[in-house]
Amino acid sequence: MEYRQLGYSGLKVSALSFGAGTFGGGNEFFDAWGASGVEEATRIVGLCLDAGINLFDTADIYSAGRSEEVLGKAVAGKRQQVLISTKATFRSGQGANDVGSSRHHLTESLEGSLRRLGTDYVDIYHMHGFDAVTPVEETIGTLDGFVRSGKVRYIACSNFSGWHLMKSLAISEKYGWARYAGHQVYYSLAGRDYEWELMPLGLDQKVGALVWSPLGWGRLTGKIRRGTPLPEVSRLHKTAGMGPQPDSEYLYKVVDALDEVAKETGKNVPQIALNWLLQRPTISTVIVGARNEEQLRQNLGAAGWSLTPQQMAKLDEASSLPRAYPYWHQAQFKERNPLPV
Ligand SMILES: NC(=O)c1ccc[n+]([C@@H]2O[C@H](COP(=O)([O-])OP(=O)(O)OC[C@H]3O[C@@H](n4cnc5c(N)ncnc54)[C@H](OP(=O)(O)O)[C@@H]3O)[C@@H](O)[C@H]2O)c1
Repeated sequence: MEYRQLGYSGLKVSALSFGAGTFGGGNEFFDAWGASGVEEATRIVGLCLDAGINLFDTADIYSAGRSEEVLGKAVAGKRQQVLISTKATFRSGQGANDVGSSRHHLTESLEGSLRRLGTDYVDIYHMHGFDAVTPVEETIGTLDGFVRSGKVRYIACSNFSGWHLMKSLAISEKYGWARYAGHQVYYSLAGRDYEWELMPLGLDQKVGALVWSPLGWGRLTGKIRRGTPLPEVSRLHKTAGMGPQPDSEYLYKVVDALDEVAKETGKNVPQIALNWLLQRPTISTVIVGARNEEQLRQNLGAAGWSLTPQQMAKLDEASSLPRAYPYWHQAQFKERNPLPV
């Protein structure tokens, strides 16, 4: 396994990490995503560790906290070997203050996560989304306090716009506070908007990307093809409308290119889609999802080899989409405003 720096920090994360969104279950959405209990999760964590994965990602809201509980039990006795990433910000209860990145909610959320994970520190603490209602000084000041107390080691954000991230970095710099080392972003061959604003920002400001849903919310798996019905067991039956929704024709075009590359390489569709991501700029880690051990074994085979430049170009071409403004305009001025890829 290759280990990469998490942005402008001293932390090394494995190029592939594991997403524990499939741990827990307990309601319709999360049961469809995956519902690994402690036994299966322990075997999955073991497979990951054997392959050199050191980072496990979860969130306070995954399965209403059960993902954190299951992950905590699955890594019990191995805490020194693993890095745990979790998240806060989204609504965690019915109260007026049970939401957002205020000092009040973050303090409650962190204590809850530590309790459920059975640990006294979190390695990477993410703001799951931007809270435009709370002053950014309050959020970053609170996170800086967590870092100083030792309860959090590194901070990161997720699903931020360029200005959200840039404003947050400026406030960290102004006060000498902890700074977001990573940005957990949606990026895949089924959705490349990350490249327009956030990738150039990541390069310029040294913020590493932790890629979520690298198979396009479970679509780049080889199960979806033109004229092929979705197999009986797939979370997409229940969750397709809740994540990114690429146009079907666009998706089929990408899958056709993946199939061609699969024939050339002997690798399967998810392995190729993940390998493509590993070769893009700013990527610190690709958070792999797997509902069972077999899927995980396959996805671990995405590392340790590289697509050729020609194969990368074929996939780039099949997945390119028209840019929104002002990115289409900026793309006409590459001489002084080069594209990141
Ligand atoms: N920050 C955020 O807002 C955010 C949002 C979403 C996710 N995440 C993180 O990202 C992690 C990964 O997300 P994701 O689960 O959506 O990733 P994904 O890689 O896009 O999708 C994974 C799903 O694809 C299918 N799959 C995976 N490998 C396969 C294989 N080899 N063969 C066939 N099917 C395969 C499985 O679904 P089926 O078997 O059901 O088809 C699996 O659950 C999460 O666990 C979480 O940690 C973060």
